[in-house]
Amino acid sequence: MRYAIITGASKGLGEAIAKRLLMEEIAVISVSRTENEEIKQLAAEKGNYYKHYSCNLSIEEEVQEIFMLITHYIFLENPEEIFLFNNAGVIEPIHTVGNLDQTPIIRNIDVNLIAPILITNLFLKKAQQANTSLQVINITSGAAVRSIEGWSVYCSAKAGLNMFTQTVALEQAAAKSTHKIYALSPGIMDTKMQETIRSSSNEAFKELGHFKEFKEKSLLLPPEKVANALVDLALSGEAETGRIYNVNDLI
Ligand SMILES: NC(=O)c1ccc[n+]([C@@H]2O[C@H](COP(=O)([O-])OP(=O)(O)OC[C@H]3O[C@@H](n4cnc5c(N)ncnc54)[C@H](OP(=O)(O)O)[C@@H]3O)[C@@H](O)[C@H]2O)c1
Repeated sequence: MRYAIITGASKGLGEAIAKRLLMEEIAVISVSRTENEEIKQLAAEKGNYYKHYSCNLSIEEEVQEIFMLITHYIFLENPEEIFLFNNAGVIEPIHTVGNLDQTPIIRNIDVNLIAPILITNLFLKKAQQANTSLQVINITSGAAVRSIEGWSVYCSAKAGLNMFTQTVALEQAAAKSTHKIYALSPGIMDTKMQETIRSSSNEAFKELGHFKEFKEKSLLLPPEKVANALVDLALSGEAETGRIYNVNDLI
């Protein structure tokens, strides 16, 4: 059986990835704080394996505990292939440095960077001892390579995620491993994250007007379109390890 683990599958891009994978008869494990009932229902209709684990990815102990359980279960099943989508993300805090609260700063780095590192480490450890092929797919952002005033923490976390992706790819290549790790910058999508961005203030975020305009002019990408392109890439077996893909490379 082929398994996909998707963090942040309850909404937005993660939800769209989960739905597409269920259509491909891939077993889906969803990890987020809330569960998406539509995914649960779709899995039941298709007769597919699906399990949701409630986990707050900003709490290290929860990440360790839940992902120990998930890896233990999956590797006992001797899966043919595993797809790990490190997709969950948070944009906040949005403000200039000097005006940030401490807790959201730490939460942002925990969810956007620390959790994907911890989870990837656990999966690669298990995969090295098993006869299973693993693809790790990290969802990054254009903000990883473009400094955006008001988004310093998000930009830094996503830049870290890109560097992590490229470094692990080098290590795996040196070890002559067949496991792949790559990232996708998904473009500007019509999700809750964009709602959060639009609800910030001009004082906190200089580009607010542009982001409101993207929505007004219907320039936001549907997450389903991005998910389909990404899943096509993952299933093709042609993804280049270490590459930071941009959505425009795929659609
Ligand atoms: N939307 C865009 O324009 C855009 C652009 C570039 C990159 N991205 C990236 O694309 C990915 C998906 O974003 P999206 O737009 O789909 O966001 P979204 O609609 O806001 O969904 C975020 C997902 O992350 C989960 N999540 C957030 N905090 C969490 C926590 N503490 N613990 C567990 N799960 C948590 C949420 O689940 P729960 O609330 O149920 O926990 C939700 O499923 C992110 O990595 C984001 O940075 C988005």
